[in-house]
Amino acid sequence: MKYSFKNDYSEGCHPSILEALLRTNSSQQNGYGLDDYCAEAEKLILEKSKSPHSKVHFVSGGTQANLLVISAILRPHESVVSATTGHIFTNEAGAIEATGHKVHGVETSDGKLKPEDIQKVLDVHTNVPHQLKQKLVYISNSTEIGTIYTKKELEDLSNFCKEKNLYLFMDGARLGHALTAESNDVTLEDVAKFTDVFYLGGTKNGALLGEAIIINRQNLQEEFGFHIKQKGAMLAKGRLLGIQFQELMKDDLYWDLAKHANLQAEKIKEAFQEIGADFLAETDTNQIFPILENSQIEKLSEQFDFYVWKKIDSEKSAIRIITSWATYGAVVDNFCNEILKLK
Ligand SMILES: Cc1ncc(COP(=O)(O)O)c(C=O)c1O
Repeated sequence: MKYSFKNDYSEGCHPSILEALLRTNSSQQNGYGLDDYCAEAEKLILEKSKSPHSKVHFVSGGTQANLLVISAILRPHESVVSATTGHIFTNEAGAIEATGHKVHGVETSDGKLKPEDIQKVLDVHTNVPHQLKQKLVYISNSTEIGTIYTKKELEDLSNFCKEKNLYLFMDGARLGHALTAESNDVTLEDVAKFTDVFYLGGTKNGALLGEAIIINRQNLQEEFGFHIKQKGAMLAKGRLLGIQFQELMKDDLYWDLAKHANLQAEKIKEAFQEIGADFLAETDTNQIFPILENSQIEKLSEQFDFYVWKKIDSEKSAIRIITSWATYGAVVDNFCNEILKLK
């Protein structure tokens, strides 16, 4: 079977999580997130984000987190702004629109939203009350094309949103990879400070499944539980999510796993650079998008699995390579050798 660089959720979970699940298996706990493990995981997340007044909720997946947060925040006539590469815009089968809210897509060069991008949407929605009211800005870090926000970019976005009375929501499906990237200057504390809501992804960073939604803005905290329940997302065995995040957060396993994935991607990126490949975007997280000739893609895909991401012209396409917490160093070395042969 070919080794897959298609996703960072191709493997099960980190063994420490399996051990913790076994260790706690016979313990009787309250249901619906009111168990000891969720409480401890929440405490650890809030300590690490230095945000004692935030509230944490655990849900099973990223699309679910996005639609819960967005539909809970917005009133019927309100809408959300996203990059056109944003997961909610391209890859959630209209999950947000199905809750009754328009997603305004903004073209960007690097997957990151800037205040001027959002302003352009606001500028063409001034005919009150005939047009939609933009109330929320959705960003992801790392983005869907592997790029990350700098502290300055995040701070500018946060200030802009405050000035325009917009909420700022960060999809952190790959926040671990963003915050441990070589060029990153953003801390978890900054994320908690600059966003109204964000989530820490577990599914793509060593958990079996699960995302931790962190609500920083107090007026958004109170009724969130009703939304989780009403959308069928409140697990009776919420302990399953709490145990996993407790394990990921204690001793910094979460950050170590993300660093491992980034490092493997960096090695692969260097091999592509060595053969002179261009990239769809400048990244140093666990996703890279080298542009290759069709014949090179064919050759590489004899032994490895990956997505052909975007057609550049009739001769070239960008492929997507993703590494994970579990990617073997030896396989990466072999992959790099095969890349170097493409020269
Ligand atoms: C940035 C981002 N957000 C959300 C999701 C959705 O996650 P899920 O597949 O768990 O619904 C993904 C999945 O790839 C993603 O990349």
